[in-house]
Amino acid sequence: MEGRPIRESASELSEFALPIYANPLGNLLGGRIMHLVDLAAATAAMRHARGPVVTASVDYMTFLFPIQIGQLLTLRASVNRVFKTSMEVGVKVLVEDLTTGEIRHTNSSYLTFVGLSPEGKPRVIPQAIPETEVEIHRWEQAGERRKQRLELRARILEREKEREKENEGGRG
Ligand SMILES: CC(C)(COP(=O)(O)OP(=O)(O)OC[C@H]1O[C@@H](n2cnc3c(N)ncnc32)[C@H](O)[C@@H]1OP(=O)(O)O)[C@@H](O)C(=O)NCCC(=O)NCCS
Repeated sequence: MEGRPIRESASELSEFALPIYANPLGNLLGGRIMHLVDLAAATAAMRHARGPVVTASVDYMTFLFPIQIGQLLTLRASVNRVFKTSMEVGVKVLVEDLTTGEIRHTNSSYLTFVGLSPEGKPRVIPQAIPETEVEIHRWEQAGERRKQRLELRARILEREKEREKENEGGRG
């Protein structure tokens, strides 16, 4: 299967911080940012896989400062690395104050998507080819992050098994 350059699936999404998504303090809801991050990342993932994908995991998110209603959010997403059926996508969120032109970086996050076959099973997706120094650096770092993610997933699955056993014990 032939790989595809990372630049071909890089995606950008922009949206005004609208009053319907304000929190009680009058700033943009964190949940709205999370939604947009997922959408931007899914766009890059699907564009790369050229098929359906699902979000398997989202790494932690840190919001560095509040976003005011009326400011413009721009989310830049790109596939950092493909493993086999899964891929890591990085999303950078920039906030622009259109009245001053000031642009600030509010958060970055990493999401893992899995490509699916028509039967809904994980399917192998083409490799993502890094071309620039930045892309090569991200590709290398993605390998480290994957190790940590899979360790965490294994711990969560182990805990789930223990919980199920405890519940069965309680019923018996
Ligand atoms: C994600 C999902 C497809 C994985 O299916 P699965 O049967 O567990 O498949 P596998 O264990 O073979 O994992 C498939 C790939 O996903 C990766 N993966 C699974 N869970 C992961 C996680 N939490 N973090 C990172 N990677 C993960 C595996 O490492 C594997 O990658 P690889 O093929 O590149 O090595 C399945 O758990 C699922 O459908 N989850 C729900 C997804 C969803 O509804 N998302 C929200 C709406 S889009």
